[in-house]
Amino acid sequence: MDKKVKWGILGPGNIANQFAKATGVIPDAELTAVGSRSMERANKFADKYDIPKRFGSYEDLANDPDVEAIYVATPHPFHKEYTILCLKAGKAVLCEKPFAVNTRQVKEMIECAKTEKVFLMEAMWTRFLPIMVKVREWIADGVIGEPRMLTADFGFRSGLNPEGRLFNPELAGGGLLDVGVYTVAMAYMIFGEPACINSMAHIGETGVDEQAAMVFGYDKGQIAMLSCAIRTSTPQEARIMGTEGSIYLPGFWHGTSAVLQVSGKEPQNVDMPFKGNGYEYEVMEVMKCLEERKLESNIVPLSESLAIMKTLDEIREQWKLKYPFEE
Ligand SMILES: NC(=O)c1ccc[n+]([C@@H]2O[C@H](COP(=O)([O-])OP(=O)(O)OC[C@H]3O[C@@H](n4cnc5c(N)ncnc54)[C@H](OP(=O)(O)O)[C@@H]3O)[C@@H](O)[C@H]2O)c1
Repeated sequence: MDKKVKWGILGPGNIANQFAKATGVIPDAELTAVGSRSMERANKFADKYDIPKRFGSYEDLANDPDVEAIYVATPHPFHKEYTILCLKAGKAVLCEKPFAVNTRQVKEMIECAKTEKVFLMEAMWTRFLPIMVKVREWIADGVIGEPRMLTADFGFRSGLNPEGRLFNPELAGGGLLDVGVYTVAMAYMIFGEPACINSMAHIGETGVDEQAAMVFGYDKGQIAMLSCAIRTSTPQEARIMGTEGSIYLPGFWHGTSAVLQVSGKEPQNVDMPFKGNGYEYEVMEVMKCLEERKLESNIVPLSESLAIMKTLDEIREQWKLKYPFEE
């Protein structure tokens, strides 16, 4: 790469720490600025990661001429507003998953990126992990034959905090948007858009989905069985079953290994460790796209982020789950 890409972080909370650490292992990435709603929080985060520019408003970050790309790391209901703020200021945007809270919002974000002719990508980081690249190669090469079934789950037990991001309906809480989206994205990676969706959820006392199961069906009879939870721990694994073998992915959403079982052969353990904490691969993809002057990634294209959000909307529709700001 000719020169370093200058990154800004918008919303220095929990996950922004992982992003900051990840940029540290990418020689061509420079963490230039951070923007918070509070100058104090911006300073605290900037001091921690040695970030030269710090802003007490998102607008000031978006308008800083030095910043080229911004990582939007706020809770989901604010992804749309702040992504659009950055795009309109001409900054490339990597926006956390879920891309937004519903299809209407995602359409607005994509339209804005297209109008402004600026790069935009959902931070579906799992897709870029080395083991996932290997899985796609195996599937494309027919190593497990034709994939026919998938199971994927992502559940964890969180303490009940009605005000927190996970349980608060005002912050689009619930398992589906927080962790279920990984299982849905996994199903998209293997089978594409489902032809039919069946699902059920337990809606807890704060009014968000605490656990859910989803079954997707596809045109050639393939089936994906997915589940997610925020009050129950689950194994967090994925299995892809094909006509000639299977792939087991422990901790699939942040995985570094797989067990490849080709029918009639010994199982093969494959380890593909991260260079840093794993978040570096999505950042490298954005930088590669910027260098190639692309406006979106082929690996997580905008059309797929939109399709995934439509699927999430359809699932919520089946549960009659609306967030208060959608009424
Ligand atoms: N890729 C992953 O592995 C991963 C993991 C966890 C979360 N995520 C995603 O990342 C996003 C952020 O999650 P998080 O756990 O980092 O969230 P968080 O720590 O609760 O919030 C992140 C930051 O957003 C800012 N913010 C702006 N408006 C806000 C509002 N009205 N209420 C609360 N905070 C607001 C705050 O920063 P300032 O006020 O200082 O500006 C806050 O520190 C979510 O969409 C989540 O799905 C991804």
